[in-house]
Amino acid sequence: MSETRVHGPDVKTAHQDLHSEQGALRGEHPGRSRNPVIKVADLAWLEFEKPDLDRAEIFARDFGFQVAARTESELWLRGTFAGTPCMVIRRGRTSRFIGPAFRAAERADLDRLARATGSDVRDADVPGGGKAVGLLDPSGFPVRVVHCGEQLPALPEQRPLLLNFGTDHRRTNATQRPPREPSRIQRLGHVVLETRVFSRALDWYLDTLGMIVSDFQFLDGQRERGPVMAFIRCDLGSVPADHHTLAMHLGPGTGYVHSAYQVTDLDSIAAGGEYLKERGYQRSWGIGRHVQGSQLFDYWRDPDRFMLEHFADGDLFSCDVEPGWAPLSATGLAQWGPPATRDFLGAGPSPQRVRDVVQALRGDNEMDPARLLGLLKAAKS
Ligand SMILES: [Fe+2]
Repeated sequence: MSETRVHGPDVKTAHQDLHSEQGALRGEHPGRSRNPVIKVADLAWLEFEKPDLDRAEIFARDFGFQVAARTESELWLRGTFAGTPCMVIRRGRTSRFIGPAFRAAERADLDRLARATGSDVRDADVPGGGKAVGLLDPSGFPVRVVHCGEQLPALPEQRPLLLNFGTDHRRTNATQRPPREPSRIQRLGHVVLETRVFSRALDWYLDTLGMIVSDFQFLDGQRERGPVMAFIRCDLGSVPADHHTLAMHLGPGTGYVHSAYQVTDLDSIAAGGEYLKERGYQRSWGIGRHVQGSQLFDYWRDPDRFMLEHFADGDLFSCDVEPGWAPLSATGLAQWGPPATRDFLGAGPSPQRVRDVVQALRGDNEMDPARLLGLLKAAKS
């Protein structure tokens, strides 16, 4: 643990009642930086490359995105909420994830960030214009921090259903008919990344972008070696923020795991899921309710096997909730729902996975045989 990080004076020990059984032990990572360069306000969008933008647009519309802008070489996708687009897909030779873009709270933050990292503030290639600083995180992902000139206006919403509870009858003389149509995505919620250099990457996001940890997870029996997964949120002070905007875990590979998009309620998740199923898409895991973050979730594969999540009803924490600590396990991923699938856990021994493991065990990184075994055990427990 770095000596420069301490618990802030206003950090409460509220996690026991909120989201986790236990807090940090003495000397463990406090989950925040004492003096970060800036504090980003949110995840802005994710950048991908794909060879076939028409095919990408068909899935995007079926999943519930709307098109913010489309050119020969770029597809910008958005949700109904006002703000920035959720995703840009650029035409490229292969299907690959490029990296995340985070939203700076103010324009001046870009100057501060550029000075501290020895980079430049450049024009952001986004509809409506803006400025951006381009960085590289310790895992090797290009990370952009952006300040957009124009906000996208809000679009019409899918209305949450009016529910009757017990004797609380809000709906009478009216039927319940959730439309069998794509869920309407409201906004991008979070991205999950796998990395071989988890500790270095974690500290980089805390020190550089001012993010703070909501929950740590460690390998059973290896807690003294530190966490191997973190659910990380934006520090908006007293304004509550999503439980996680970024989640990262140690693994043999470096790459995108999934990204999650908010829809209005459980019926939107379920009816939108039926729509995807009818269209022949593959559900990876769902429907259930998570533990860390508490979201109702449903995971799907796009035609290039990228995993995307519909979620609703996630936890929101202000800056004064300190990190929870729990062992990593497959059964600990959900409060209810079907068991986590092999597909979701990435448990299939694909040729790429085998190459990742060999490279990770040979290379200079944080993976070693004990941790690999611990990760395999976690996937089965
Ligand atoms: Fe998720």
